[in-house]
Formats: sequence, structure tokens, C-alpha cells
Amino acid sequence: MNHIIPEDYANSTYNTDAIHLESIQLIINEKSSYDLIVDLGFGDGRVTRKLSENLLHKHVVAIDVVPEMLAHAVANSSDDTSIEYVLQDMSVPWLELSPRIRQLESKVDLLFSNVVLNYMSNKRQIMEIIGRLLSSDGLFFANIVIFKDLTENKQLLDSMFDERQQQLLCQSIDRQFNDWKQSIIDNKFHIKQFKLMSDNEIMTRKQIIDFMPVLVECYAIYYKDRHHFDTEVKGDRFRDLLFNTYFSCLTVGESVTETNNNNNNNNNQSVMMSWKQFLADNTIHEMQLSWHFVRVMAYNQ
Ligand SMILES: C[S@@+](CC[C@H](N)C(=O)[O-])C[C@H]1O[C@@H](n2cnc3c(N)ncnc32)[C@H](O)[C@@H]1O
Repeated sequence: MNHIIPEDYANSTYNTDAIHLESIQLIINEKSSYDLIVDLGFGDGRVTRKLSENLLHKHVVAIDVVPEMLAHAVANSSDDTSIEYVLQDMSVPWLELSPRIRQLESKVDLLFSNVVLNYMSNKRQIMEIIGRLLSSDGLFFANIVIFKDLTENKQLLDSMFDERQQQLLCQSIDRQFNDWKQSIIDNKFHIKQFKLMSDNEIMTRKQIIDFMPVLVECYAIYYKDRHHFDTEVKGDRFRDLLFNTYFSCLTVGESVTETNNNNNNNNNQSVMMSWKQFLADNTIHEMQLSWHFVRVMAYNQ
């Protein structure tokens, strides 16, 4: 994956803190103590620190693939010596994982992962790895983003992409939901909770600008050819489609209405604001992001 800047990530996502705090509470409700915890995809590290502060444990192994994330998390980890940060791409097969990760086989009491597994295109493979890492009766807890189906807004889509491009855009919510569920069942987990959740966040202008590259990057998994995604897909039209699918205006300021009216004068299509128009319009201070995720709580057997 392309690199996400840790500071931008941290700034753009602090509104979602309620989600991981609620998750930690659900984990505590199961059991308050876990000897060995893995946090898969620690990002800026603040969720890992919260796990460490709130759960009784001996050791936390925090894993991420981006070196800048590791440097940022280590620099901000205060004096919590129970957290070990490890750089590892978890999207590779078991035998390609580093010896440090494979050493954890059957030893992990809690494998936690907040909004990370959605970056893995091979769901079966990552669930197999998680199954191997967990001890028997070990708890797997994850919040996995379910991407919006960009092909849903037909009006918007038809005006932006031809038929061949549309087929490449993404998978339906049902398909993502069912594929995750099946790969968990196939790996013989006992599912305690598997639930589709929705969330709405008010984001500031700066947060939206910082968050857009994170959102664009999420869709890279649908393209086998990274070069094709970087050069042909993630251009202006793709950004416009993403922006309009995920964000909506809270209070439509005069300038936004005017911009949209001007834009749609000729064809009376659904209200749409391009990413460039948003960037140019400093009167838009906030917008609402709406997104879905699946919450999984499952025990290894
Ligand atoms: C959206 S952030 C979530 C960070 C953190 N869990 C949180 O809740 O704030 C996703 C993180 O997953 C990491 N990640 C993505 N793909 C990964 C992979 N294949 N192996 C390990 N980490 C990965 C990214 O580097 C990023 O830090």
C-alpha cells in the first residue's frame, strides 16, 4: 500500500475514537485480562496505547506495515514498555511472515484489529493467519470497514465512468459482508458477534482534506495492478465519485448551492460537488462522513 502520513491519519480520525473505546469495553466485558495481545495495524498507535491502558496484560505486540507509522507510534508511546512495535506486512502467506510473528503461533490471547483488515484483498489468507496466531479460545475482535458500493449512485456514475470502468469500481456491501463471514466460518471460529454497523461523523475541512488520501487508498485493493490504479483510476473523477459517495453537506451554504446549480444547469442531475470545487470553496467548514463497518467478535476453537 502507499504510505499514509501518520499525522494526517491521526488528525483525520480522532472523531472515531468512540468506536474503539466501545470496542475495548466489549472486550473487557468478555474478560478483563489477556496475557498476550496483538494489535494488527496500529496506525498512529493511540488505539494500541488505549488497549494497553485498559486491559490487564503481560505484553502487546503491535504490528504495522508502514515504517513512518512505526516511528510515529514509538515516538509517542510514552514509557509503556509492555508494547513491542513490529514492522510487518500481514497480507503475505504464513511462511513469508517474519520469524518474530511466526513465533507467536498459538500464543495470542486477544487479536485486535481496528479498521485494518479491509486493506487485505485475500480475506481467507489473513483469517487463516489470525487463526494460527490465536491460542485455543483466543479472542478475535475486529472492526472491518465495508466500503460503499461506488456503483450505487447511477446518475453520478454514468456521468463519470464508462461501462468497463464501472465494473472495476468495487464490490457490493452484501458481498463484502458475506465474504468476511464465510472466511471466518471456514477458519473454524466460533462467532459471537458479526454485525453491520453504520457511523456518521462530522469532519472539519482540514480533516476531510487529510482523510481523502486515506479513503482513496482503501480502494486500491480492488485493483490487481497497482500501477493501473495509480495512473488510470485514482484521478479526479474517481476522487469526485468517492467524495460525493461518502460526504454530504450539513448545512448547505449559499456558495455550495450556487456552485451546484451552476454545475447542473444543463442536465438537472443529482446535486454534486467536485473535489476541486470543495477545495476552492472556503465557506464549507464541515461535512458529514457516513460509512459502514462490520464488528466481529469470534473465538478460536
Ligand atoms: C486506518 S489505519 C487504522 C490504525 C489503527 N488500528 C486505528 O484504529 O487507529 C490502518 C492501518 O493499517 C495498516 N496496514 C494496512 N495494511 C497492512 C498490512 N498489510 N499489514 C500491516 N498493517 C497494515 C496501515 O499502515 C495503517 O496504519
